Amino acid sequence: MSPSDSPGAKRGGFSSGLGVLAAALGSAVGLGNIWKFPSLTGANGGAGFLLVYLLSTLLIGLPLMVAEIAIGRQARANPISALRQLKPHGAPWWLVGVAGMGAAFLILSFYSEVVAWVFAYVAKALTGSLLSADPAQTQASFDTLVTDPVQSLLWQWLVLAFIGSILLLGVTKGIEAVTKKLMPLLFLLLILLCGYSLTLPGAARALSFLFAPEWHRITPAVVLTAMGLAFFKLSIGMGTMMTYGSYFTAAQNIPATAVRVMLADLSVSLLAGMAIFPAVFSFGFAPSAGPSLVFITIPAVFAQIPGGQVLLAAFFILTAIAATGAMLSIMEVPVVILHERQGLTRPRATLLTLLLLMLLGAGCALSQSLLAQFQPGGRTLFDWADYLSSNLLMPAGGIAIALFVGWAWGEGAFATQLSNHGQLHNRALARWLCLLLRWVTPTLILLVMLAGLGVFGGA
Ligand code: PFF
Repeated sequence: MSPSDSPGAKRGGFSSGLGVLAAALGSAVGLGNIWKFPSLTGANGGAGFLLVYLLSTLLIGLPLMVAEIAIGRQARANPISALRQLKPHGAPWWLVGVAGMGAAFLILSFYSEVVAWVFAYVAKALTGSLLSADPAQTQASFDTLVTDPVQSLLWQWLVLAFIGSILLLGVTKGIEAVTKKLMPLLFLLLILLCGYSLTLPGAARALSFLFAPEWHRITPAVVLTAMGLAFFKLSIGMGTMMTYGSYFTAAQNIPATAVRVMLADLSVSLLAGMAIFPAVFSFGFAPSAGPSLVFITIPAVFAQIPGGQVLLAAFFILTAIAATGAMLSIMEVPVVILHERQGLTRPRATLLTLLLLMLLGAGCALSQSLLAQFQPGGRTLFDWADYLSSNLLMPAGGIAIALFVGWAWGEGAFATQLSNHGQLHNRALARWLCLLLRWVTPTLILLVMLAGLGVFGGA
């Protein structure tokens, strides 16, 4: 074990149970809840899709989240050092931490650009320059933003600097303090928007769009989509939850926390769907997916509602809050690795991460303007970053983490960590989770991955 595998005693951490919950939930809740979940659910068979998503969350998401947090808390170190520390000999498991750091950079380079659009929209919504009942007009505003290289880059840098400045404050005063304030605000805004939206005439149609089961739509490809979503939603497979686990308090009940995070994250997704679709249906729009729903349809919908400017600003502030917690958690992975393994001070590690992201992220920021023609293999750099992280790095990381706990670290050590060294009586739960992690979770993820890579065709 090298000296950098055992970080010094002075290490940041979350100070309370509430702080742990806010930070972990802050990581899970993100852009994924606002449009990915509602539109995928609506487009893929409503309640049937939801059921498959829940099963994937139970069989893949929860066991992996628990596994990552347990590894992190046992080692109290960054993902690379943690895996080296728990299994210093044999297979090079620490490479999973290296891959996680790569995934963090890749995800951040495209995620930060979408968040950049969200921040730009908050500014536009507040000044009232977004509202137009004509979708052609809202489409034109969006195109102007994304095809302007200067705006795309500046907004991305602003977002990165904002997230970086929170991280500079440290784990307790930065991540924990900010997510503790933002999470309640997010719920409040979401419930208000949802309450309002459900009074609109399109509410019944929206609810049946979201929740009426259409079993014939549940094809193998849809099952795989649902599993992929479970992965992305719970921030697993790339060391994020492992890193946060290393900041957990010793008394925190890991499985109970994971279940709470999963349930709260699911509630945010459902509330987001119930806030968005009634409004969309009430004004005769078609439910579309991806950026067009959030950046083009939503402004056109809100333009028709009394008080639409306030509601629109609230919607984008809510999305910005969700994205902030998620970005903090992704960026923390390289920051803590550079800090603990390369011996950089935390502020220097944060600044280096920021600098690297500005360079790497520029490829994604400019992929609809200066680099629009640069499409190796038929994808823009933005699409490659999205594709490689979701379809390759995160699932591969998930398989490795499941196998690490199931076979290398072993049930005994895992159970000891889950029971807080015997204080909680959850031995049977640990056994079941270990069985899942040994056999079921890696097999299922392998299927997701192969489908994502198009092995079964049509992916
Ligand atoms: N869970 C976040 C979302 O749903 O938007 C995205 C995410 C966060 C992915 C953290 C990966 C991660 F490590």
